[in-house]
Amino acid sequence: MTRMLRQYLEHQADELERVLLNHRAPARVTGGTIGPRLIRFTLDLAPQVRMAAITALADDLALALKVTSVRFEKTAQGLIIEIPNPEPRPVTFMGMWADLQPLPAATALLGSTDDGAPLLARLASPDVAHVLISGTTGSGKTVLLRTIAVSLALGQAPTEVRLMCFDPKGRAFRALTDTPHLLRQMIVEPVEVRESLRSLTRLMEVRDRQGEHLPRIVVLVDELADLVMTGDGIEALLTRLVQRGREAGIHLVAATQRPSAAVLSGLMRANFPLRLVGKVVSAEDARIATGRGQSGAESLNGRGDFMAVGGGTAALRFQVAFISEQDARIELDKVAAEAKIAPELTLPEAPVEVEAAAQAAIDAAKLLALEQQNGAPFRSNRQREIALCGYAGGAATTRVEQALDWMTAHDESATTTTKKRFSLPTFFNKSGAAA
Ligand SMILES: Nc1ncnc2c1ncn2[C@@H]1O[C@H](COP(=O)(O)OP(=O)(O)O)[C@@H](O)[C@H]1O
Ligand SMILES: [Mg+2]
Repeated sequence: MTRMLRQYLEHQADELERVLLNHRAPARVTGGTIGPRLIRFTLDLAPQVRMAAITALADDLALALKVTSVRFEKTAQGLIIEIPNPEPRPVTFMGMWADLQPLPAATALLGSTDDGAPLLARLASPDVAHVLISGTTGSGKTVLLRTIAVSLALGQAPTEVRLMCFDPKGRAFRALTDTPHLLRQMIVEPVEVRESLRSLTRLMEVRDRQGEHLPRIVVLVDELADLVMTGDGIEALLTRLVQRGREAGIHLVAATQRPSAAVLSGLMRANFPLRLVGKVVSAEDARIATGRGQSGAESLNGRGDFMAVGGGTAALRFQVAFISEQDARIELDKVAAEAKIAPELTLPEAPVEVEAAAQAAIDAAKLLALEQQNGAPFRSNRQREIALCGYAGGAATTRVEQALDWMTAHDESATTTTKKRFSLPTFFNKSGAAA
């Protein structure tokens, strides 16, 4: 720890205590941790002080500490107050990658939690399955998509995972142009997108009948809203894929600025079990992006500062592992040179009625949702429709933590992977505080 950082920490801890005391909410900073991007102070509250009294002071605290925002978190150790690290260290993909291999099947690297644990997403898990990335311009959505794509291409054989990339701007996935994992070359034109989605929908049906799911196909979409707005039944096709794709090994990972109702139907949003949310501009946008209130996503710092949100559990903050387009290309070239020619995988032609069928299944699911909302009893034929369209109900039941549970388990199973050595957070004890 530099001397300057040490002084900064002492000063901020004093300021925190001062502001809280002035607002009749005395508390003591007992210490904290210094992560690559965040400093987390642990607070001991005086017995009569309520947590709500402190969280109400977010703006006053940010002002006093001269930081853009503060975030609170309840933990077993006490109340945590998070502020940005004034000397941030980058979280790089290459810095993490060597220690992560080999990764289990269809698992992508997302980034690192601030205490140094890698955050991975297992696509096959019902808690992941399809991923919706949102955040304002500059929050780091495109970089996150690249990290996911590159980690899949580097970590998985083309017989296991194939990628399909849609990007109206044609820039997000440039690094992947020559990987053997690509099912088709970059898809930019809406007509090609539609045609590819129709074929995927058809493939999903074929695989369903045959009970197949390999190779898994990961559809990566940047600027999802632009794509949906081109119309042409694209939303119906995408909705079908997120409703039923997982069992057929088809996964959607899509990024958009603001997943509001104007852009994405509720049905589509409800079928993304995992949401990755970067900086958003308002509390209202945070609610739309995370699908829940008081997530604090509006106080994220941008440039890869994200939170992972799944139904039911606390949001998990992480920093996206950064890889530049150039580095991605260098690494991917190495794999491409070693890789055997990927087996041909042709997508089936879709019959003309594929959109109409998709729309009919979606209408049935909507009707069902409406009935559930109104408390109407199910009729038996309706229940069959549930199975038919795989509708999970209003809120997809998801748990980000399971992915994490798995991660820890993975850490300990030294038989399948080398033990990882991730830098543990530096601890900081406030002078004068009992350690
Ligand atoms: N994980 C990250 N680590 C470091 N810098 C990042 C990270 N993600 C994004 N950035 C920075 O922010 C810029 C914008 O990121 P980008 O992914 O293009 O945002 P978006 O697609 O949300 O508009 C990048 O060019 C890069 O400089
Ligand atoms: Mg972008």
